Amino acid sequence: MKSIELNIEKALFFAEKEFNAAKDDARQAITTLEEGSGAGNDFLGWVKLPSETPAELLDRINATAARLQENCDYVVCVGIGGSYLGAKAVNTALADNFEYYYAPEPKRPKVLYAGQNIGEEYTAELEKLLTGKRFGIIVISKSGTTTEPAIAFRILKEQLEKQAGKEAAKDLIVAITDEKKGALRTLATQEGYETYVIPDNVGGRFSVLTPVGLLPIAVAGHDIKKLMAGAVEMEKSTLRPNEDNIAETYARMRNALYRSGKKIEILANFDPKLHYFGEWWKQLYGESEGKEGKGIYPAAVDFTTDLHSMGQWIQEGERTIFETVISVAKPAVERRVPSDEANLDGLNYLAGKRIDEVNKMAELGTQMAHVDGGVPNMRIVIESLDEHTLGGLIYFFEKACGISGYMLGVNPFNQPGVEAYKKNMFTLLKKPGY
Ligand code: PA5
Repeated sequence: MKSIELNIEKALFFAEKEFNAAKDDARQAITTLEEGSGAGNDFLGWVKLPSETPAELLDRINATAARLQENCDYVVCVGIGGSYLGAKAVNTALADNFEYYYAPEPKRPKVLYAGQNIGEEYTAELEKLLTGKRFGIIVISKSGTTTEPAIAFRILKEQLEKQAGKEAAKDLIVAITDEKKGALRTLATQEGYETYVIPDNVGGRFSVLTPVGLLPIAVAGHDIKKLMAGAVEMEKSTLRPNEDNIAETYARMRNALYRSGKKIEILANFDPKLHYFGEWWKQLYGESEGKEGKGIYPAAVDFTTDLHSMGQWIQEGERTIFETVISVAKPAVERRVPSDEANLDGLNYLAGKRIDEVNKMAELGTQMAHVDGGVPNMRIVIESLDEHTLGGLIYFFEKACGISGYMLGVNPFNQPGVEAYKKNMFTLLKKPGY
């Protein structure tokens, strides 16, 4: 199999007319994206980012990661939205499910996250965990002025300076921000932190393949060169005039479904390691498409877990949804259901079967039930959970998002609506100038 495959068969028959009618729109959208002639075209740096990232940058990121690994048992990534979700998604997908219950090992720090909320208890409990520990900070903010990470960084910086000393702390902090603007750039220059630049033409939610995502991923011990190689492959295979372009097909199918009345897309996984991939995807599509009174609402579920909670709604609720399933073809390990002589639980019919076979039958059974229940279903099969595949999957969703946003008729690269809550919050908090 290819490392990533898309199957739209179980969605097509719901909206075949709309899918056929959307062919020219999809062509136009991908042309607009690749030629850079559409709205938001000053934010297209991500389109060729994989193939244009110099090997020297990856080497430098790996060297910084090695320094943090050497000197820290915990590395806290401070950031929110696009400045955190990509790294969290990849690190969760590639980690042991129980990694946080193991103690840190030499040169294998635990990567933690802060500044993605304003929870007072979250902050205090993180400070408690880090008390007396060897830790470092990667602070990430493109604008350099976002309130949530700014508060977290102020607190953690103070703690680090107290614990390690002001001079030593400087070598344990890395800032990733705009090349010139913003409070974080000023602070980093003044303090002498090592810094990385978030390119001007790459928006937050498209930035996982820049140092924003790559440094925390490298610190967690994953191979960023393989991740980028997977993205480069996908970049090439989703370029025009390729007729077998899965990014274009996915964008065209979801728009065809939207035009036929399906307003909500549910991204489902059957592997708990993909939970945060769903969170990253929600931001990518939600912020890119939800504007001007339009947009497919992106929701995400973890199956089979959520079949026992959201399953009822999906099966029989309002028929405005469609589903996109990410299926992992090959788990990295093999475990079978044991046989039991007494068979009191009646499970011997499964004895000897791989747990993954049960999971795959749950997946097939769910697809059949949901399609029968009026839920169109697309299926993305990835070969395995590894860096190369995830790099490809990230780029696939990004490219499809750009195409899809243009098909929808919006600027997929701005997020004017995000400012509304900030203005109110700043006024309420009496921030100078508000
Ligand atoms: O996609 C976006 O632009 C946003 O989600 C930002 O990533 C998020 O608001 C964080 O912004 P910043 O990196 O400027 O702190």
